[in-house]
This record gives sequence, C-alpha cells and structure tokens, in this order.
Amino acid sequence: MATTTFSSYNKMAMALALVLLAVLMAPASSAHLSPNFYHKSCPKLLSLVRAGVRSAVAKEARMGASLLRLHFHDCFVNGCDGSILLDDTPTFLGEQTAAPNNRSVRGFNVIASIKEKIEKICPDVVSCADILTLSARDSVVALGGPSWKVKLGRRDSKTASFSDVSGAIPPQTSTLPTLINRFSTKGLSPKDLVALSGAHTIGKARCLFFKNRIYNETNIDKSFAKERQRNCPRNGGDENRSPFDFRTPNLFNNNYYKNLVEKKALLRSDQVLHDGGSTDSLVELYSHDSAAFESDFVAAMIKMGDIEPLIGLQGEIRKVCSRPN
Ligand code: HEM
Ligand SMILES: *[C@@H]1O[C@H](CO)[C@@H](O)[C@H](O)[C@H]1NC(C)=O
Ligand SMILES: *[C@@H]1O[C@H](CO)[C@@H](O)[C@H](O)[C@H]1NC(C)=O
Repeated sequence: MATTTFSSYNKMAMALALVLLAVLMAPASSAHLSPNFYHKSCPKLLSLVRAGVRSAVAKEARMGASLLRLHFHDCFVNGCDGSILLDDTPTFLGEQTAAPNNRSVRGFNVIASIKEKIEKICPDVVSCADILTLSARDSVVALGGPSWKVKLGRRDSKTASFSDVSGAIPPQTSTLPTLINRFSTKGLSPKDLVALSGAHTIGKARCLFFKNRIYNETNIDKSFAKERQRNCPRNGGDENRSPFDFRTPNLFNNNYYKNLVEKKALLRSDQVLHDGGSTDSLVELYSHDSAAFESDFVAAMIKMGDIEPLIGLQGEIRKVCSRPN
C-alpha cells in the first residue's frame, strides 16, 4: 500500500514538473497574447471593430474575404505585425506592391477607418495588427462562419519588407509538398493548411491566376472549366474575376471542399489538396462534416494569429496604420 501511494505521488510530481517545463518552454510571444488584453484600456474595442466590419461587409460582401486574406498575408510575412498595412517610405519599400499583393490585396481603407474611430476613444493603445486580426474574425462571422475568441496584445512593426513577401506567400502554382512546406515554416501543420484553405469559400480570384488551369489541366471537371472559360478567355481578360465558390460565393461554409472533391477547384493550389495525395481524406471529411471543418478552421486561425507577434516593448502602437509613428 505504502509503496503504491509513494509511487503515485512520485508520478504526480513528475507530471507536474513536466507541465511546468512545458509552460516555461512555450514560446514567450504567443503566451503573452490574451483575449482580455484591452479589457481595461479599451473596453469598446470589440464592438467598434465588429460594427466597422459589419457595415463594410453590408456594403460589399467581398470585403469580408479581402480582410481575411489581408490578415493571412500580414501574418505570413515576418509575423502578425501589421507590416502589410504600411505604405512605402523613403527608407523602405513596403509589402503592398510585392507580387502576391500587388493590385490584389485590399481592405486598407476599412482598417484605416476603424483605427480612426478607435483612436478617438482610446488613443495610442490598440495596435493595427490586433485590429486586423479582429477584423478577420469578424469578417468570417459576418459571412455566416464560426466565431472564436481572438487573442490580443500584438504590437505594430516599424518597418515592412517588400523582398520577404514572395518567399513567404505560396504561389497558386504550388504543388502539395510546396504548400505543406511553406506552412510548416510558419509552424502550421498540413491539417492547418487544409483547414485555412477553406477561406477560399469566399472571395474572388482573377483570370490570370486560373487561366492555365481551366485551359490546360486535366484534373478538372470539364463543364466547370467551360463555365469559367466564359469569363476568362484564352487571350486577354486577365483581370476578370470569378468567385472561388460558385455555389455560395458570399457565405462562409464548407462548399469549398465539396468543390474540390468534384474537381471544381478554381486554383491549382486548391485542387492539389484533393488530387490523390496525403490530404484527400481530410478534404473529404470537411466536405461532409462542416462542424469538423469549422472547429479545425478556428484552431488554425488562432495558430496563424500566433505567428511571431511583437510584444512587450517591441515595435510600437501606430497612430495611423499606413505609416510608422
Ligand atoms: C494555401 C495557399 C494559398 C494560395 C496559393 C492562395 C492564393 C490566392 C490567390 C491567387 C487569390 C486571388 C488573388 C487575386 O485574384 O488577386 C486568393 C484570394 C483569396 N485568398 Fe488565398 N491563397 C492561399 C491561402 C489562403 C489562406 C490561408 C487564406 C486565409 C485564411 C486565404 C484567403 C483568401 C481569400 C479570402 C481570397 C479572396 C480575396 C478577395 O476576394 O479579395 N488564402 N488567394
Ligand atoms: C504593380 O502593379 C503596377 C500597376 O500595374 C505595375 O506598374 C508595377 O510594375 C507592379 N509592381 C511590381 C513590383 O510588380
Ligand atoms: C497551355 O500550355 C501551353 C504549353 O505549356 C502554354 O504555352 C499555354 O500558354 C497554356 N495556355 C494557357 C491558356 O495558359
């Protein structure tokens, strides 16, 4: 009896020590983010962002997609630090004209106008990086998707990097191994990749990005390809846009995965997630289990929001999102 008790105490102590060790070894950065970060300093923050996003999405549903993508492109390039929001300055070339972003990312005015309202009631307190993270969540909610608690406390970068964008954001010509590799560099798993790609249930892409796919590729439904060709000619029309999800373009749901299973993905980088490779089964699961998709999407969004934040005394709280103080 006595030995059993002793050894179970021992095991408990060991377990406790392991938990402590895990806590101490966790990356300090994301551990500092917390949903209550502005609880005292800016209690109206959440309702202000929600109102700003709601009215922008009511005016134009696609804006919800654009804000979600803006957050992704911010986080993948040197962390979620609001760097994508910075215009070029005399001392650095910003991220907005780098190939994956040029004439493609949008929503800057929505973030700027939300920031302006926040500065009026709690000046110099809330980072642009956090406003963008909240806006991405509120966009998903505004288009009928799941909600979650957003961790806050990120600070803003004082600089941005044109040259770091293309190596971080994968191109739409990527193979599955390339996508998996780019995401793993950011600490995101293949499951996170598949779940986050579900963001392509909303928004649009330009003809130049899917032209080769709808004329040349073979892993595509023929009638789907024909339909897309009507608005994307072999020559020209590069700027014409098609919705990613032709069934419910402005609703955040799991139809994206149904499209993939039917070989009706718009981009090559979408179809490779269901093309005989290691992620097929997950795509199939999400295509018929929207609860599984939603819960994995939420977990992956929180992980993406944790990428290399600036915290403590790092960076700054910008007064205006488009320029350093
Ligand atoms: C996996 C690799 C990914 C690739 C290769 C990719 C590529 C693209 C491309 C080429 C476009 C169209 C851009 C244009 O026509 O100007 C696009 C749009 C979009 N992307 Fe992705 N993307 C990826 C992952 C993601 C992720 C992780 C998210 C968010 C969590 C996301 C959200 C969006 C949204 C919402 C749009 C539509 C934006 C709008 O209509 O304004 N994408 N993406
Ligand atoms: C971005 O787009 C503009 C307008 O089309 C173009 O003039 C410029 O060369 C592009 N920049 C880059 C870096 O590709
Ligand atoms: C189809 O592939 C050929 C050969 O690679 C290429 O020359 C052509 O531009 C492609 N067509 C489209 C519409 O992308």
